[in-house]
Amino acid sequence: MRDNSLKIIKDISEIVNSTINMSHLLDVIIATATRIMNAKASSLLLIDEKTGKLFFHIATGEKKEEVKLYELSMGEGIAGWVAEHGTPVLTSNVKEDPRWSSKISNAIGFSTSSIACAPLKVGDTVLGVIEIIDHLDQTSLTQEDLDMLCAFADIAALSILRARIFSSVNMENERLREALVGKFAIVGESPIMKKIISDCSKVAHSTATALITGGSGTGKELIARFIHNSSPRKSAPYITVNCGALPETLLESELFGYEKGAFTGAYGQKTGLFEAADKGTIFLDEIGETSLGMQVKLLRVLQEGTITRVGGTRAIKVDVRVIAATNRDIEERVQEKDFRDDLYYRLNVVRIKLPTLSERKEDIPSLAKHFLEKFQMTSGSGRKVEGISPEAMEVLVNYDWPGNIRQLENVIELAVIMGATKDIKPADLPREVCQPTKSNQSAGLTLKDAQDNFKRDFIRRTLESVSGSKTKAATVLDVQRTYLSRLIKELGV
Ligand SMILES: Nc1ncnc2c1ncn2[C@@H]1O[C@H](COP(=O)(O)OP(=O)(O)OP(=O)(O)O)[C@@H](O)[C@H]1O
Ligand SMILES: [Mg+2]
Repeated sequence: MRDNSLKIIKDISEIVNSTINMSHLLDVIIATATRIMNAKASSLLLIDEKTGKLFFHIATGEKKEEVKLYELSMGEGIAGWVAEHGTPVLTSNVKEDPRWSSKISNAIGFSTSSIACAPLKVGDTVLGVIEIIDHLDQTSLTQEDLDMLCAFADIAALSILRARIFSSVNMENERLREALVGKFAIVGESPIMKKIISDCSKVAHSTATALITGGSGTGKELIARFIHNSSPRKSAPYITVNCGALPETLLESELFGYEKGAFTGAYGQKTGLFEAADKGTIFLDEIGETSLGMQVKLLRVLQEGTITRVGGTRAIKVDVRVIAATNRDIEERVQEKDFRDDLYYRLNVVRIKLPTLSERKEDIPSLAKHFLEKFQMTSGSGRKVEGISPEAMEVLVNYDWPGNIRQLENVIELAVIMGATKDIKPADLPREVCQPTKSNQSAGLTLKDAQDNFKRDFIRRTLESVSGSKTKAATVLDVQRTYLSRLIKELGV
């Protein structure tokens, strides 16, 4: 078997060069080392950078599961000694070696007589150790075994180093990409946005529940993410749940999890998103869409800080910051008894109300440029578009953006894709953006149709200016709320 060893090491070198999957590589290295040295058990221990202790990353042999429950301090046992000194050790009779610690062998009931242990070294840095115990035929390990183990250790150390460099390069890439594309950057120089950003930074440091309201595409999700990212919880999970997208029972098991057998099909136990978001933030988007039944359950989490899995009885403590958002007029829903007032008060501890884009037109140029840069970067090379012509910018600023920032973002994306000239021209913008509602557009229609067009547009704008509240719109328009509801339905606003 030994005659084969050179070939085996060559094969491993090939595997090492063909993949950067560290776990897979180390498994192969250990399995091969164990096999060719005919060892009874083997293990690879790594140094935990935080605690400085050695933990079993891989273990083989009949007690492989038990052994993984143990840790060793630096200098403890032969593995600890090798990790501390960075030199290999061969002990043919452990009972005569004062460095040996019988702690693990005794605890798991595994008899050990000889050990070979080699450090995993890169330069002078020790990353961990590889260790083998006895031959399967009970004979002691030899110097030849130790030499072979050292060769394996060198390959393993290199694999670990490569995988670590690769993952840190990847993380750095991801960070740079996010920073460049400005994934979570909030653009807004208008006084109203500056105030919101400063409020959010303050709110971020409390654990108070926040309710974000605003029309569709006004940036609610982005603001929620901003609060999390500016909070002390930023390295803990941030989980978004779209409450409007799921039926109540599904939403309940998603949020709270379930116990085995809670309902047909619950074959195992499942932890819910509240538990998954522990120590972090959960963003309940479209909270206004939740049923009254669901609202009771959410209220309980906010009041008691505990959840109960579906089909379970145990209250499980969760430390989660809740941010909710809705583009509905939530006060109106409370008045109409579609939304529980007690939950509303719990959510509304901090209120962040996002303005429509037409309420902060001064931000349109910088937002348009921000999206232009974003799409230039993601649309690949060969794109001609470099800027926005003053005429096109004027069109953008004059439009009233019913779909708010998301609509502006879509318009710029389309212009980058379709634009053939250096600057975006008005011709690269969609028709509705270029043609603000003008009275002469109605020429050729009956008076009734023209009036309906006007009414539809006017009601839509009024509703937008009051964040969709029919009650407030009715007051502004000086009509009965019921009459307004009828008009909205008839005109298809
Ligand atoms: N101030 C801002 N600066 C830069 N980008 C923004 C800003 N606000 C929103 N956006 C972008 O506009 C798009 C829409 O924002 P977001 O999804 O947060 O809106 P929303 O209010 O959650 O919309 P909806 O109600 O439709 O769910 C996103 O791509 C977001 O990144
Ligand atoms: Mg959203």
